Amino acid sequence: MIVRARYVWVCTNRRPDGHPRGSCAEKGAEGLLTQLKTRVAAEGLAKEIRVMASGCIDTCEEGCSVAIFPDGTLVGKVTEADVAPLVEALKVARGVADAAHFADRVIALPEPSGEGA
Ligand code: FES
Repeated sequence: MIVRARYVWVCTNRRPDGHPRGSCAEKGAEGLLTQLKTRVAAEGLAKEIRVMASGCIDTCEEGCSVAIFPDGTLVGKVTEADVAPLVEALKVARGVADAAHFADRVIALPEPSGEGA
């Protein structure tokens, strides 16, 4: 079993054209996923950072949405132009949440309560 320091889910959900919520795919998520995977591999980080596609994270209006664990960071409006600073920030724990580059796009998550929803 391989355990990485960081797991990165890029929502690539696609809804039909004209859907009121839109979708990350229509905002370029598939290209973002490819570019992010390519950059992680090119920097020799594939054993540290695992980049994967995900279904809808339910922050569609903020897409492209990217979730990072175990950091517990959710960031929105990510584009291919963010790939380099995203990979740089992924090199350290909570790097994306702390990066000035993403400061206005980090989506606040509730603190874990230990209780079921
Ligand atoms: S479609 Fe990506 S978060 Fe919903």
